[in-house]
Amino acid sequence: MNTVVIGLQWGDEGKGKIVTYLSRYYDCVVRYCGGSNAGHTVDYGDFKIVHHLIPSADGRFKKNMYIGVGVVIDLDVLLRELEQLNNLFPESSTLLRVCKQSHLVLPFYRELDGRIDAARNEPVGTTRRGIGLCYANRALRFGLRLEDFEDDQTVKERLRELAKLWNLELSIETVLEHLREAYERISHLLIDNVEAFENLKNKNLLFEGTQGVLLDVDVGTYPFVTSTNCSSSGVQSGFGYPIKIDKVIGVTKAYTTRVGEGPFPTELKGEEGERIRKLGGEYGATTGRPRRCGWLDFVLLRYAVKVSGCDELIVTKADILKNFEKIAVCVAYEVDGIKVHELKNLKDIHRVKPVYEEMEGWKDINSRAFTKFLKKMEQEVGVRISYVSTGSKVDEIIAL
Ligand code: IMP
Repeated sequence: MNTVVIGLQWGDEGKGKIVTYLSRYYDCVVRYCGGSNAGHTVDYGDFKIVHHLIPSADGRFKKNMYIGVGVVIDLDVLLRELEQLNNLFPESSTLLRVCKQSHLVLPFYRELDGRIDAARNEPVGTTRRGIGLCYANRALRFGLRLEDFEDDQTVKERLRELAKLWNLELSIETVLEHLREAYERISHLLIDNVEAFENLKNKNLLFEGTQGVLLDVDVGTYPFVTSTNCSSSGVQSGFGYPIKIDKVIGVTKAYTTRVGEGPFPTELKGEEGERIRKLGGEYGATTGRPRRCGWLDFVLLRYAVKVSGCDELIVTKADILKNFEKIAVCVAYEVDGIKVHELKNLKDIHRVKPVYEEMEGWKDINSRAFTKFLKKMEQEVGVRISYVSTGSKVDEIIAL
């Protein structure tokens, strides 16, 4: 059974914890897209881990982990995470494999990422991790893959070409030395795409999405998106094979957040937004930036479920709204004075007006008000809720 877990909003839905919890039922957790722009926080109770690149498999269950060809690798970040994993779960850290054909995020991409974003009339507000640049260089055929390090000459030539292309003053020898040292430390983890597929094809795989459907480069709120297909449609290219997906699980918060720029119809700019931010600890796991907060938006959720082929929902962070007497949910939009329940595409999203329904808040998740909220969500979105996360720790989750 192969399952993919994706975020249904603009990322930060709590996918990391969900993947960690579910990983006990699978043989291997696979990352298929994104890079160290992702920050999946997992709270084990005594300690927390933020996964940027290494799949969020539960270290206590000693599961295989695989970073597929669609993921872009910052070697410095990977090394730091490996060290952390090795300290906390030494046996698990030997179970990671990284696809040799994956592309590298080079150290100078981060600064260039900032320069490129600053050149726009309306910046995207990227995480400045060089992710977009890495995918762009890959598409331009200027990328460096991990396997290129089998020969220093190839790396040097590519660095020279990149310096010319992006008009950079690069000390090729210094960059090469840094990368080579890092590469040597992870080279024992590398595996060819074909070999990885042969090893994994008959196993139960859990694909760990990053970001969220609304940040997908094709079906998200373009241009305020990331640079990959982080929705479920990216699994096969990011894994490198047309693997069969049996189930798509979509994760949504009980409210909405967004970090970075771009449209956000239900954003709460005043005190209520601040209250959610404080109670929910809504600050970016990668950049520390305050997240923009707002009410749950069923129009966008319906859209995300549709374009991702989502079969089941998992609701996170419902506990954060516990102290609200009343909450609101967006059930429709008004566009040019006309009420619509669906957006056929997202190009009008910057000019819609949310239509809200008020709902009773809940003191605890066993209350009638909370059950009503979940029922409403299932009705509005048309997909069953399978789990509700009841706190930040891995095992704080209930099956419905
Ligand atoms: P990039 O992926 O760093 O290029 O950033 C593009 C957009 O995606 C920006 O709005 C980022 O804030 C957003 N983004 C990227 N990764 C994440 C994530 O893991 N969570 C939430 N937002 C993200």
